[in-house]
Amino acid sequence: MKLLRDKVMTEGIVLGDQVLKVDSFLNHQMDPLLMKEIGREFARRFQAEGITRVLTIESSGIAPAIMTAMELGVPMIFARKHKSLTLKDNIYVEKVYSFTKRESNEITVSKKFLQEGDRILIIDDFLANGEAAFGLARIAEQAGASVAGIGIVIEKSFQPGAGLLQKAGYRVDSLVRIASLENGTVSFVEEVHG
Ligand code: G4P
Ligand code: NA
Ligand code: NA
Repeated sequence: MKLLRDKVMTEGIVLGDQVLKVDSFLNHQMDPLLMKEIGREFARRFQAEGITRVLTIESSGIAPAIMTAMELGVPMIFARKHKSLTLKDNIYVEKVYSFTKRESNEITVSKKFLQEGDRILIIDDFLANGEAAFGLARIAEQAGASVAGIGIVIEKSFQPGAGLLQKAGYRVDSLVRIASLENGTVSFVEEVHG
């Protein structure tokens, strides 16, 4: 997705060899027009999949997920990272380990909002080790739903998540794929379609 690649090039800040800071349009300030285009692009890619719900995790997944859900005309649900006061029972829970933060968190979704037979599109802002995406997929599967695919805004292809998810049988569709952040430079994975 050229618009997004341009945005990463002009506004992304490389921190070390592993982390891309995109606070100006994705992780802190958010660019609504870009989000709308991201939603349109995910919807276009997954149009034929019979998606019934979009599933993401708070907080930065919510914006691309809601735009995608709007385009597809289906509800969006976000997994919570912190226990809600009003959400104690009847929840699906999965442990998600963050290598970045070196801690494990429980993510939860109310059983009310996922149904057997649902076709779930998982959306997230970043894909690194894939722990969040695997956790979301396990929650969908606990509900008896099927995972139609995983749509990622920025995939760091030099980290193992995308490969592991594909090996597990999931379709991973990323709008930009970063091959390397070495030497303070963003290098994209070469794409056939530009
Ligand atoms: P994983 O799910 O792929 O295993 O990722 P990991 O645990 O490493 O990610 C932990 C948090 O860091 C996630 O956000 C993830 O989106 C984010 N992250 C991972 N790599 C990068 C990166 O290169 N740049 C940026 N900006 N973020 C990255 P989170 O803690 O869930 O926060 P948020 O959704 O509230 O923003
Ligand atoms: Na994030
Ligand atoms: Na996220």
